[in-house]
Amino acid sequence: MVDFVSLLSSKLEVFKASEIRELLKLTEGKNVISLAGGMPDPQTFPKKELAEIAKEVILERGENALQYAPTAGVTEFRKELTRYLERKGVKVNREDSIIVTTGSQQALDLISRVFIDHNDVIIVELPTYLAALNAFNISKPEVVGIPIDEDGMKTDLLAKELKRIYSEGRKVKFIYTIPVAHNPAGVTMSLERKKELLELASKYDIPIIEDDPYSYFVYEDGVDTTPLKTLDREGRVVYLGTFSKILSPGLRLGWVLGNSYVIDLLERAKQSADLHTATLSQYIAMEAIRRGVVDATIEKAKQIYRVKRDVIIDALTDNMPENTWWPKPVGGLFLMVFLPSLEIDTKKMLPEAIERGVAYVPGASFFANGGGWNSMRLNFSFPPPEKLNEAIKILADLVKEKIKGPTVKITPETFYRV
Ligand SMILES: Cc1ncc(COP(=O)(O)O)c(C=O)c1O
Repeated sequence: MVDFVSLLSSKLEVFKASEIRELLKLTEGKNVISLAGGMPDPQTFPKKELAEIAKEVILERGENALQYAPTAGVTEFRKELTRYLERKGVKVNREDSIIVTTGSQQALDLISRVFIDHNDVIIVELPTYLAALNAFNISKPEVVGIPIDEDGMKTDLLAKELKRIYSEGRKVKFIYTIPVAHNPAGVTMSLERKKELLELASKYDIPIIEDDPYSYFVYEDGVDTTPLKTLDREGRVVYLGTFSKILSPGLRLGWVLGNSYVIDLLERAKQSADLHTATLSQYIAMEAIRRGVVDATIEKAKQIYRVKRDVIIDALTDNMPENTWWPKPVGGLFLMVFLPSLEIDTKKMLPEAIERGVAYVPGASFFANGGGWNSMRLNFSFPPPEKLNEAIKILADLVKEKIKGPTVKITPETFYRV
């Protein structure tokens, strides 16, 4: 056989098979309740409406819908999408442009290629979205994590870090944040913190990458969901979104809205990645917006997820040992549970949990600084309510068995070191 191993790129170490992913793969098709993925509830998929739209689009507009498209996306769709975002309260500046991406995962990958060189500093939340970390890590940056609490990123700690980094003569390439209905933690940044974040970004002239898949799913009244993009007066926010949770992840459709200088660069990077995002998906999503299918899907999904969120919180409250902490998820599809002992390693515990019939993602995967080993991310959008209850009871029993000695409350700040 060819000696492939000696021929591989050094980048490959970033793609090394994750033990966790391998373990979770083993649960597929087994009798395991998975709180691990981030899948929408299939009940939310508007199957009939999408089937009708797809048929019409292919038969009536097939000469375009089945053809190649421009790299930035189908022009008519980009206009429709921009108008849709404006209706949702996202500010679009005169200098802005929009690019359609193959899921917002591709946007994260393109941003990584366009902005990051080896050893550049980027800032993320602690914890943050695992697949964003993976996309950024391909470019080998130094990733600095800022702890979150129930009001989102702790801007006082951000100020401290920025001061340290700039005093060392270094600069930050971007700040990546999921301000509303965070993944993995479900929290939302307060308006005050959003303003502080924008002020700090302005002071040091740093772009902000705002990832917003979940602001459509906020379950509490009075939560401020204003995008940073809307509050920004300086054109520094690059705004990412996706159709994955508001229509269907199978369409693989995301977008980036921001200053056209950045969007042009992303377009150039995308050209070599995949030429363009599937034309047919773009036509289908365009019609789904026009016919109100996207809005109806959001409404339906929001009802379903609110019920499930309440079920999982009640189950945690009733079953988990004292001092177990989870920031209340005001929106989104996930919550993060911090077990009340630093002695518990949720990665080590996972095989046992799977054995007993429950899967989750160990929290350390979401911590850029190697912390969070006693935490876990739980998804509540996919399993039916009764399974959520059952899963939490199983997990709580396991955790209680693991706790030796007194319990103590642990938060993301526990793992923060300047
Ligand atoms: C915060 C965040 N960003 C980006 C994505 C990527 O989504 P997609 O590639 O399906 O658009 C997800 C998906 O779960 C996410 O949670």
